Amino acid sequence: MAQIENAFDDVGSGPPIIFLHGFPFNRSMWREQIAFLSANGFRCIAPDLRGLGKLVAQTSVCDDSTPEHRLKSVPPATMDDMARDVAALMDTLQSESAVICGLSMGCYVAFEFIHLFPSRVSALVLCGPRAQGPDEKEKLSREAQALRVLAEGMDFAVESISSTLLAQKTVNEKPAVVESVGEMVLQTDPRGAAAAQRGMAIRRDYSSDLPNIDVPTLIVAGREDGVRKPEDADFINRGIRNSQLEVIDDAGHLMNMEQPEIFNDVLLRFLGSLGD
Ligand code: MLT
Repeated sequence: MAQIENAFDDVGSGPPIIFLHGFPFNRSMWREQIAFLSANGFRCIAPDLRGLGKLVAQTSVCDDSTPEHRLKSVPPATMDDMARDVAALMDTLQSESAVICGLSMGCYVAFEFIHLFPSRVSALVLCGPRAQGPDEKEKLSREAQALRVLAEGMDFAVESISSTLLAQKTVNEKPAVVESVGEMVLQTDPRGAAAAQRGMAIRRDYSSDLPNIDVPTLIVAGREDGVRKPEDADFINRGIRNSQLEVIDDAGHLMNMEQPEIFNDVLLRFLGSLGD
């Protein structure tokens, strides 16, 4: 997929922290962190990752290909592509290095980024991460999902959110969060979603990268995450020498949106420790 100038936020001044969103979402999922950390002396940079976010949705309106062509013609947006986009954005913003904070797919991009540009990472924050690469079953499932979004659009994906991504307490007590998550999914361009699924299907296995990561690393897990298992976070915690793991109660896969106050405190404490 040709590189597209995706939108980004750049708010506040101070040490930079770059937020990489999950799938199939956009940079708005970091709204609460950007407000909080920019008020606490940090520069918060949050791009929409390649193919995702609102700008791309506008560009695809002109897509006049046949349905058959549309299903086949979407090449993968790889984690490598996305990591290089982040580096290009940092160049544009004259940010030599930063704390890189990813959630889920954003963690795949973060792993790729630190592999490609180790000197540009001062610390890592990995939320709902997984290091292992895809097996055959996962690859087939991602291709099936890609074909389905291209054929049907994003609507069907909204239904699985409450059951798999969010904690029970979020579903019961935080309708605004459920609504924001649904809106992000519906704003996603199906072609961008298919490209990202295909990119995730051919991502590397990051397990053997873990011992080479030597920056301070915070791993954050939601105790009720239905997408990641506790072992996924433990595996990364054991693999990265200088890492710490925080598990947030009453939170699922989108723990930063579900428990923003707790998440922000955890993040601020970690960032505060970096100068020590
Ligand atoms: C995400 O939230 O980014 C996705 O769960 C990532 C994935 O599909 O592996």
